[in-house]
Amino acid sequence: MVHLVFQTRNGQQFPLEAAAKQSLMNAAVAAGIPGIDADCGGSMVCGTCHVHIAPQWRDRLPPISDMEQALLECVPQPHPDARLSCQIPVSEQLQGLVALIPSAQR
Ligand code: FES
Repeated sequence: MVHLVFQTRNGQQFPLEAAAKQSLMNAAVAAGIPGIDADCGGSMVCGTCHVHIAPQWRDRLPPISDMEQALLECVPQPHPDARLSCQIPVSEQLQGLVALIPSAQR
């Protein structure tokens, strides 16, 4: 299992243990993490699963696709650290990852 933490803007933390290979979004939804709406279920059309991930984790994440980038430019508060959690597979490389939940998803 991979230890992950979702954190709100006011510092509230939601730690969870996630099985590898599922998406970060699926792990969050299964754990009932507030603020990860994931309206499209991972089809990369809603943007309501986006999180902010600190730059030091960037080389452990899959590259951002053109479609993901385009969607992230349409979220309420675009941010350079934003990623779609549905496009990030959980792996051992993400052990200890902290994903910040944005203040708004829509
Ligand atoms: S769940 Fe809709 S874009 Fe990720």
